[in-house]
Amino acid sequence: MPTLLDGRKISSEIKAEIKLKVEKMKAAGQRAPHLAIIIVGDDGASHTYVDGKIKACKAVGFDYTLMQFAPTISEEKLLKHVDQLNADSDIDGFIVQLPLPEHISVEKVTESISPEKDVDGFVNQNFGSITSDSPLLMPATPFGVMELLKRYEIDTKGKNCVIVGASRLVGAPLALMMSHTGHSTVTLCHKYTTDLASHTKKADILVVAVGKPNLITQDMVKEGAVVIDVGTTRVVDATKKSGFKLSGDVDFDNVSKNASFITPVPGGVGPMTIASLMINTLRAAQYNH
Ligand code: GUN
Repeated sequence: MPTLLDGRKISSEIKAEIKLKVEKMKAAGQRAPHLAIIIVGDDGASHTYVDGKIKACKAVGFDYTLMQFAPTISEEKLLKHVDQLNADSDIDGFIVQLPLPEHISVEKVTESISPEKDVDGFVNQNFGSITSDSPLLMPATPFGVMELLKRYEIDTKGKNCVIVGASRLVGAPLALMMSHTGHSTVTLCHKYTTDLASHTKKADILVVAVGKPNLITQDMVKEGAVVIDVGTTRVVDATKKSGFKLSGDVDFDNVSKNASFITPVPGGVGPMTIASLMINTLRAAQYNH
């Protein structure tokens, strides 16, 4: 059986470390780091993610401000709120929860966030600084994957890392991190990749971030591979109180027969994204102070 990469446990360890640092900041007369979260509309999954982020703020001792807007808010108004948060010296960092309603440009909104307050690490400048020697704020989900590998002492140097899914938020920045920090040889697959299995079978480390349940089957994974599943799709499950369950992109039960390490969904990468958000907010606060 593979070792489970327990994102909940590692995330709790990281939060405990941050909590101690916040206590020290307060003891030194500084205020606690302050995170603001903008959420637009009433997408159930987004509200669940935001609830998790607020719970984490409470656990580490951060101040937080939640700003909720109707789905009809104009792009112009939303951009004004972003500008206000940029200018507010009491706010160390903020995020705009995605997705946004279709009439609002995600790129326009994210690019209007000050890079020093961009604790999601979405802004082009933060993406570009991944390969710098002193990055300030790293893209949160790929940084969470790197931290999970690091804390389980998984050797990445010289390994074949195959990433499936080349999104701007996960796959593309992770490819840079695995190459630059992880010193892996990286293959970045996407929807135009032909014969996906021929690539995934070569992976020592396989990361999947697509959003298609059971895309990766046992025959696509070599013996001993480390498997990281970033997918989180809500699928109907009448046995659950909520009526759905979260499914990753990997056929967990069967792929586990080949993997040496594997992330569960939920409880793998998800909590690590939140831990990264807390790390970034602390860094932003230290930078602002
Ligand atoms: N929607 C899904 N994941 C994320 C995330 O990490 N940050 C933001 N802002 N929105 C998301």
